[in-house]
Amino acid sequence: MSASAPTSRRLSPPDILGRKGGDPIVCLTSYTTPMARISDPHCDVLLVGDSLGMVIHGLPSTLGVTLEMMILHGRAVVRGSEKSLVVIDMPFGSYEESPEQAFRNAAKVMVEAGAGAVKLEGGQHMAETIAFLVARGIPVMAHVGLTPQAVNVFGGYKVQGRAEDAARVRSDAEAVTRAGAFSVVLEKVPHSLASRITSEIAIPTIGIGASPDCDGQVLVVDDMLGLFTDFRPKFVKRYAELGRTAGEAVAAYAADVRARRFPGNEHVFSDEAPEPKK
Ligand code: KIV
Repeated sequence: MSASAPTSRRLSPPDILGRKGGDPIVCLTSYTTPMARISDPHCDVLLVGDSLGMVIHGLPSTLGVTLEMMILHGRAVVRGSEKSLVVIDMPFGSYEESPEQAFRNAAKVMVEAGAGAVKLEGGQHMAETIAFLVARGIPVMAHVGLTPQAVNVFGGYKVQGRAEDAARVRSDAEAVTRAGAFSVVLEKVPHSLASRITSEIAIPTIGIGASPDCDGQVLVVDDMLGLFTDFRPKFVKRYAELGRTAGEAVAAYAADVRARRFPGNEHVFSDEAPEPKK
């Protein structure tokens, strides 16, 4: 049986760790029950990313996302899935202060949403916190390279780890590995660096804007479905144009309503109840 064949139970963090160097890990963000239902049969990991602040709530960045938002959407995704590991992002301000603060909030996410693991951003400076959480029963997916919660420090959503900066990103990936993370997202780092880190560390790398050599890939689901007509980052492959399709559908509905073509006879109820079916 292949590692990605359907299983009768949810994948666990150790299952994902065990995929290092094996079948590529399929990870996609998910924020709602219907989309979790669609994605779950095809994915290994559903990531309730704090990207939901921008994607679902129209915020300008991920900085305004709260723990309550993550728990609410996390619950919806857990309800809509059965086999994928559900990982929930720790939002900005909920874990950076101390390992104790991180444990308190991560435990709340795990218990109240029913997640299998949390994800948090940061490398060397978050290693102590990752070790603290893992030692207390909270599996952690790490996230290095471009960490969007630090957008103001980076001065934009820029590629990280070019030229001499590569050493910093490598040290970050090594530090989260030593700390006990079961996998690490590499976001917006050069292809050659992502490939090198993947061959150097013992945990799976999950790339976004990174390299096909990573142990797995993640995309924001709304991006790959083409739900945004005006957002086309280089690292996103569009597998559909649902934004355009939805716009056309809404326009057709509006035209039908204005022309009194909708509802049709088939959509309305008569005075008499239909004959019961035999
Ligand atoms: O918030 C998110 O969706 C993420 C992924 C893009 C990795 O962190």
